Amino acid sequence: MDQTDEQAIDFLVADFASGEHDRVPSFFVRILPELVAKVMVLKKRTTVYCTDLHALRLDSLMGKLEEAALLENVRVVHAKLETMDEDAHLRPGMLEYLANSHSSLTRLDIHLKKKCFIPPETFDIGVLNNDVVGYLHEYYMEYSDAKVGLQKVHKCLKKGALLVVTMPCSQYVVDNVGILESVGFEFLEGFDINLLDGSVVSINHFTEPKTMSSLGHYSFLIFIRR
Ligand SMILES: C[S@@+](CC[C@H](N)C(=O)[O-])C[C@H]1O[C@@H](n2cnc3c(N)ncnc32)[C@H](O)[C@@H]1O
Repeated sequence: MDQTDEQAIDFLVADFASGEHDRVPSFFVRILPELVAKVMVLKKRTTVYCTDLHALRLDSLMGKLEEAALLENVRVVHAKLETMDEDAHLRPGMLEYLANSHSSLTRLDIHLKKKCFIPPETFDIGVLNNDVVGYLHEYYMEYSDAKVGLQKVHKCLKKGALLVVTMPCSQYVVDNVGILESVGFEFLEGFDINLLDGSVVSINHFTEPKTMSSLGHYSFLIFIRR
């Protein structure tokens, strides 16, 4: 895929291990453009690719996206993190929607339809929403290889892309910063917001993982893909 062309037209976001919730696509497709419109005009078209190994969760997500009128700018892709660079399939309902849609396909759509894998250095932003790193290391460890999966997340992001990790340690306390740095990401910054009073505390390399995402707080970490 010609990356120069892709960069010129589209801004591609990946919601890795999206499950069935539409929060990430809704943020990038609806909320962020409204916030940004107050200060600048977005020239690129944003498309969010929600990937998960659980096909039925993706179909349920597609139903929610349809109800929320978000489908035009969101794709649901059946893919396991560990093998998404070899095997990644737009869900049948998604293919049907795209075949009947009047909006133009991204180059990644065309690539996925023909070749069924995610090429290296594809996405401008990646999101691991809602303690995915913890889940991969604890809950899904029987059938997921967390290290290989996160190496593939690194591979599928463009150099210089940001990776946003939300609510680290909300379920499983693992060293998200150390783990992601070991697969090639550089930790830039993180914040912990107290939802009760809105106060914000910065997260750094010395912050204890167990203090992140406590009840009534919203934590997130930002990494850059080197
Ligand atoms: C905590 S849940 C969903 C988190 C979701 N990002 C959210 O915001 O609600 C974790 C998801 O990871 C998916 N998952 C687990 N192991 C995976 C793997 N190796 N590759 C892709 N998806 C995986 C599961 O199917 C599940 O939908």
